Amino acid sequence: MRNVIGKPVVGDDLYGREYELSRIWELLEQGEHILMLAPRRVGKTSLMLELHRAPRNDWDVLYVDAEKGDSSADCVASIVATLAADPRFRSRIEAIPFSTVVKDILSRVSVGVDIDVLRVELKNAIGRDWDLAADRLQARLAGLPDAGRKLLIVIDELPVLVSRMLRAGGQRDAELLLSRLRHWRQSPELRDRVQTLFGGSIGLEGVLRRARISGTINDLAPFHLDSWDRSTAADCLAELGRNGNFHLDRNAIIQIIDLLQDPVPFHVQLFFFAIRDVCRRDPSRVSPGLIDRCFAERLAGASGTAHLDHYVTRLEVALDEREYELARQVLSQACRRRDGTTIGELTDLIQRDERTFRAVVRDLEADGYLIREADRLAFRSNLLREWWRRHHARGNGP
Ligand SMILES: Nc1ncnc2c1ncn2[C@@H]1O[C@H](COP(=O)(O)OP(=O)(O)OP(=O)(O)O)[C@@H](O)[C@H]1O
Ligand SMILES: [Mg+2]
Repeated sequence: MRNVIGKPVVGDDLYGREYELSRIWELLEQGEHILMLAPRRVGKTSLMLELHRAPRNDWDVLYVDAEKGDSSADCVASIVATLAADPRFRSRIEAIPFSTVVKDILSRVSVGVDIDVLRVELKNAIGRDWDLAADRLQARLAGLPDAGRKLLIVIDELPVLVSRMLRAGGQRDAELLLSRLRHWRQSPELRDRVQTLFGGSIGLEGVLRRARISGTINDLAPFHLDSWDRSTAADCLAELGRNGNFHLDRNAIIQIIDLLQDPVPFHVQLFFFAIRDVCRRDPSRVSPGLIDRCFAERLAGASGTAHLDHYVTRLEVALDEREYELARQVLSQACRRRDGTTIGELTDLIQRDERTFRAVVRDLEADGYLIREADRLAFRSNLLREWWRRHHARGNGP
């Protein structure tokens, strides 16, 4: 396995996750459609791409990235574009009676086509008639996999797409899109032929709860993906050390994991990279002081912002203005100490708007920012806490 920073990892670079992969396949074999629930940066996309890279025996897997879209047409266009770019499905997609403009675009698809370019072309061609296109696609979906095989359509970042639609006032359109996807899941012709898995970097549940359209996903089987446990993180650091010729001893590994507190795979990779870099690849330079400095200066310092800033931007996408403000106040209060804040210390915020407070805290917990223990709310990750404290804490908490 290599030390990879940021890009999704598959194959030999994907560490652990054997249990998670087998559990997902087990749910799929039982006919479930899955909603992947997970905090930021724990490896959702990697896991989805691994399903695509190494599918179980009689499955074909399609990975669709919905991140760049902002409309229902985008979602349908992304699915059609990904299918059309896949040689296994190309001719079957071409045979679907889409509108002439869509068919025309599909007839010109060449090998190695850029899916993003194709998606935009298709989106423009589908336009307001996305529901009709979805209908035509649905009518032929069952015929896409070969006889005896099944198709898994993985849609990554659907929550971001839905959230953008909601922000642009497209509540009705978002609801129609989600109902359409639900319709697919419930269609008898698609049973045991086509299944779906949704996930993304903000919780779909929170996004839909806010828009009061949670009913459109309540048939999905939840699958929780968490950070690594301490021993997996320790084994991974040892493995990175072996493969990268940069051995870390047991004490160094324990110190790294203690500092992180929550071994988010991305943060573990980042820490390893930073230490090796600071030591100029000479493991004899590693010391407790150096590891502490690396954490404070490289990971939680200004240079860590490039890797952690997405924790802020995703809140902006997921929450409305009032919730976002409240979330920042709660986080500003919780970041002051490693064991967080008591609910009592947040009384002012709660009294101002209890309903919003509850919704925001629920999202912050679900998306992995905070953890609640008895009457305390604390950062799950000590790295995120320390970074937040330095760069985002406000003096205007309660
Ligand atoms: N199983 C793993 N083995 C090794 N590294 C991993 C693993 N999972 C995640 N990572 C690390 O985390 C980084 C991000 O992975 P990935 O993009 O899959 O996460 P994600 O949960 O989809 O993130 P986001 O919340 O931003 O969508 C990778 O570049 C890698 O450094
Ligand atoms: Mg991802």
